[in-house]
Amino acid sequence: MGRLNDLAKVGPIDGGGSCRLALTDDDRDGRDLIVAWMRDLGLEISIDGVGNIVGTWNVGSGSAVMTGSHIDTVRTGGRFDGNLGVLAGLEVIETLMTAGLKPARPFSVGVFTNEEGARFQPDMLGALVYVGGLSLETALDTIAIDGAVLGAELQRIGYDGSAPCPSVAPHAFVELHIEQGPRLEAEGVQIGAVTGVQGISWQEVTIMGQSNHAGTTPMSLRHDPAYIAAEITVFLRQIAQEYGGNQVCTVGKIDLQPNLINVVPKSATLTLDVRNTDENILQEVELKIAQKIKQISETEGVRVSSRVLARFEPVQFDERLIDLVETLAKTHNRSVMRMPSGAGHDAQMLARVCPTSMIFTPSVEGISHNPAEFTSTDDLVAGTNILMDTMWALAHVDLSSQTGMK
Ligand code: GLV
Ligand code: MN
Ligand code: MN
Repeated sequence: MGRLNDLAKVGPIDGGGSCRLALTDDDRDGRDLIVAWMRDLGLEISIDGVGNIVGTWNVGSGSAVMTGSHIDTVRTGGRFDGNLGVLAGLEVIETLMTAGLKPARPFSVGVFTNEEGARFQPDMLGALVYVGGLSLETALDTIAIDGAVLGAELQRIGYDGSAPCPSVAPHAFVELHIEQGPRLEAEGVQIGAVTGVQGISWQEVTIMGQSNHAGTTPMSLRHDPAYIAAEITVFLRQIAQEYGGNQVCTVGKIDLQPNLINVVPKSATLTLDVRNTDENILQEVELKIAQKIKQISETEGVRVSSRVLARFEPVQFDERLIDLVETLAKTHNRSVMRMPSGAGHDAQMLARVCPTSMIFTPSVEGISHNPAEFTSTDDLVAGTNILMDTMWALAHVDLSSQTGMK
C-alpha cells in the first residue's frame, strides 16, 4: 500500500489519481521509482528496445514465472489500474524473500510500455513488441497524439534499453488487475478468474465538409462534419443496444475544426472504440458502422476517411491457469467467479507465447480511468496473496503437458 501511494504521487491529479501518459516526464519518474524498488530487492533489471522493464529474481532454473502490468495511465488515471499488477509482483517477491522461500524457477515482474494507448496507438504496444507481434522498428516510428515520435521519446526519457525484443517466452504469465467494471461488486464476488479478453477495434474517422458562415448558410446547403460526427455517435449507441450482450461502442474523442461558435466546421475527427467477446459479431458490427458512415456522408455531401488504430481479436486464456486461480481463491476462502475482461491488458499479448491468465479484484461502483477508481485494501491484499500462490504453483508444475495442475 505504501508503494501504491508513493507511485500515485507521481503525476498527481485532482481526486487522488495520476496522469502518466506513456513516455512523458511523469512516466519516466514513475519508472525511476519502480527501478529503484527493484534494485532495493536485488532484482536483475533489463530494459529492452521499446522500454519494457523486467525485474527478475534469479532463483531456481529454467524460464521465469512472470507477472506484471503497466504504470502508464490515461490522462485521468486512477491509482490502481496497472500499478497494482506491477507492485503486487514486487510484493510477492519481497514476501517470499523475507520468508526465506525460493521458488524452483526465477520470478520476473514486467512493466510494459504504453499499455493504455492513450498517447500512442495501438494500446498494449510494449507487450506486443515483447512477444514479437509488432516489429521494434514499427513501434519506434509510432507517432503520438501530440506529434511526438515514440523512439525519440524513449531516448529522451532514458528508457531506450538494449535487451532484445522479442524476448524469450516465460514459463507462464499471470497478471493481477482491478476489474475496472461493475460485475464483481454487483454479484458480491471477491475474485475474478479471468477467462480471456474481448476483441478490440479502434479507428479514427475523419470527416471533411465545407466550412461556412453559421448565420448565412441555409440548412439545405450545408456539408457539416459536426452533424455527421453526432450521427455516428448516436448510431454507435443504437447498434450496441441492438446487439446487446457484450457489445460495447464508444466515441471518446471528437475534434472539430476550426471549433468556433459561428462557423460550420471544416472537419471533424473522432475515435471509435468497438469491443465484443465474439469475433464474428465484432466483424458484423464493424461492417454495419462502415455502411452507416458511407450512407450518411453521401447524403450530407462530406468526404470520410478512416484508419485503424488498433485491432485485436478476442483472446482465450489457458484453462489450466484459470482453474488454478479459481482453486486458489477458494483455498483463501474468497468467493470467485469466471469472467471475461472488458478492458485490454498486457496479459492478452503474453498469451500468444505462454500459458497465461489473470486475477481480478473488485472495483467500487465499477469506476476506472477516473481518479475515483477504488479497491479496498482487503481486496488488494487478497488478490496479491492469490497471485503469490499462483506464481508459486506455476513454478512447480510441468506446463508442457495438459495435466498435473491441480
Ligand atoms: C486499456 O486500458 C483499454 O482497455 O482501453
Ligand atoms: Mn490496465
Ligand atoms: Mn487502463
